[in-house]
Amino acid sequence: MDLTEYVQRQKHVVAQQSRAVRDFTVFDYNYIPEKPFIRSESKQIIDAMLRFDVSGIATNFAVIGSRGSGKTLTMKYLARVVPAQTDLSMRYVNCRHHNTSFKILARLLNKRCTGLSLDKLFEMFSESITGKTVFVLDEVDLMSAKDKNRDILYLLSRSEKPVMVIMLSNNPHLLRELDAASKSSLQLVQMHFANYNAEQINAILLERAQKGLVSYDYTEVSEIAAMTTKKTNSDTRVAIKTLYYNVTEPQKSVESCFENARKDIVIDVINDLSDQNLLILTAAAQNKSDLTKNIYDLYCRLCRSQCEKPFSYVYYYSNLGYLQSIGLIALVSTKFGRTYTNRVVLTFNHSILFDTCRLRFSRVPAPRS
Ligand SMILES: Nc1ncnc2c1ncn2[C@@H]1O[C@H](COP(=O)(O)OP(=O)(O)O)[C@@H](O)[C@H]1O
Ligand SMILES: [Mg+2]
Repeated sequence: MDLTEYVQRQKHVVAQQSRAVRDFTVFDYNYIPEKPFIRSESKQIIDAMLRFDVSGIATNFAVIGSRGSGKTLTMKYLARVVPAQTDLSMRYVNCRHHNTSFKILARLLNKRCTGLSLDKLFEMFSESITGKTVFVLDEVDLMSAKDKNRDILYLLSRSEKPVMVIMLSNNPHLLRELDAASKSSLQLVQMHFANYNAEQINAILLERAQKGLVSYDYTEVSEIAAMTTKKTNSDTRVAIKTLYYNVTEPQKSVESCFENARKDIVIDVINDLSDQNLLILTAAAQNKSDLTKNIYDLYCRLCRSQCEKPFSYVYYYSNLGYLQSIGLIALVSTKFGRTYTNRVVLTFNHSILFDTCRLRFSRVPAPRS
């Protein structure tokens, strides 16, 4: 094929596809709407921040909710509006990217801190706090297993400076995993961000459509919202990506745009998994039995083949909860003998998993198709 000719032709195709879009930023997952849909749960957090502003007495939160339930967006939006109207500062760190207490502190200090002890680093960090500050620790469950006690939480809870902590997580078992000392000093208030319903996702999509699209079809937008709540864990990312495909590839049906969006997002989610979670999923995909206990045995064998230390059964089980919260598996309760146990059902095509494993590991065999 003549490459020049191809580029010319495709340029025309892309220009045609882009005609319906006025502003592509509305499809960026980091886009923060001027007036996002505010869920009622956020009000409790806002009230606690305002009390902290007046009294200096902090309420610390653990916000739990499925992927795409608006945890990150809500905090980023509050960081935009609350400090502007109060004496509070807000600092945000994503623990996926800064996955140890040391790295989190270095990030907050904006410094390379090699050679320092964690205590010294925390001392420097404490000195840098000049006023009432809210720290948002996003994806706190993704901190490295090397920092199992999440020392940063204990240090923050013991800080003499006026600090408030808001941690965000997809993992419903987060609180169970935190160590007792930090949990009791932080006195965490647990808050659950429920999955959005179709009407709420519809409102989120309409805001984006009104800002970013030249024209759109109301019926199709509500179809996307309904599909997202019915076929995913109400993951708003899938809805936004479906809308994007729907306007840029108008010849395709809403269903096919939705399936493409869902597939893209599953690939992203699987690529972002830790090695351990990838091995758990691989064991679930390969094992003849789908019972959690039997999958655990294969998972341990796979870990050994990768020279990784397997999680304890309890920790493995809590990671299954996490994999469910990000929509990759469903845990289905089944009667087994006289008791109940869980079956693990994978919610996506196994081949996607295989592709990621091939890139990540040298010796993991292909999942069953
Ligand atoms: N209330 C909302 N208003 C507008 N957009 C939202 C809202 N909740 C979620 N979104 C959008 O949905 C996507 C996923 O939200 P996000 O906050 O990243 O979810 P989570 O952190 O819970 O996984 C983001 O693009 C975000 O902008
Ligand atoms: Mg998030």
